[in-house]
Amino acid sequence: MTENLLFEIEEWVQDKLAECEAGHDWWHIIRVRNNAQKIHEHEKGDWHVILLAVLLHDVADTKFFDEFESLMLIEQKLLDLQIERHVIDHVILIIQNMSFSKQWSEEQFESHELKIVQDADRLDAMGAIGVARAFSYGGHKGRDFYNPDIKPQSYDDAEAYRSSDSPTINHFYEKLLLLKEQMNTETGRLMAEDRHRFMEDYLKQFFKEWGPE
Ligand code: ADP
Ligand code: NI
Repeated sequence: MTENLLFEIEEWVQDKLAECEAGHDWWHIIRVRNNAQKIHEHEKGDWHVILLAVLLHDVADTKFFDEFESLMLIEQKLLDLQIERHVIDHVILIIQNMSFSKQWSEEQFESHELKIVQDADRLDAMGAIGVARAFSYGGHKGRDFYNPDIKPQSYDDAEAYRSSDSPTINHFYEKLLLLKEQMNTETGRLMAEDRHRFMEDYLKQFFKEWGPE
């Protein structure tokens, strides 16, 4: 991929994500790219596919965009830029299958590159950045940050997960603390360790400050 082509894709993505809340903006993409680069150094895989999927993955995020429409737009953009058909197909499959909510889908796609992109994205949901992103998203949705009367729950499908309006602290128990065990690659697992520990320490301190209920 030439520098110019990469630049054009980056500009296009920045434009698309301009209105997204702070946890899903262009800086999220930069952090995920850095994570992906570290994982790829050890785990190898097709960097061209990994990079394109990282850059484009949140343009089709169902929290902000219509998935079908966005995937068509992405496909068209990559075709216009004369990216090879098999690369386009792989990138689109990764984007369609990387979300946490895809665990409830019947059809599952697997590839080495998907595993790397998914780990890189999930690492950005953990640790200090993960805490910041969770409260940013919760605030964006107008949610309480904590309510002792509403307990964390488990979800049976993507729709229930997406439409839940439980407080942001519950999201740690419903998703963020589960991610360490769901890492796909050995490198991702190692990178997840101290981010996981940080979230546990953060929650301990949070409840200490909250005081008796
Ligand atoms: P994915 O990007 O894998 O589809 P999600 O959509 O569940 O995963 O979440 C992406 C990020 O958005 C989370 O890591 C978190 O930062 C934020 N987020 C999503 N849902 C919530 C929620 N209910 N409360 C707080 N933050 C959330
Ligand atoms: Ni993402």
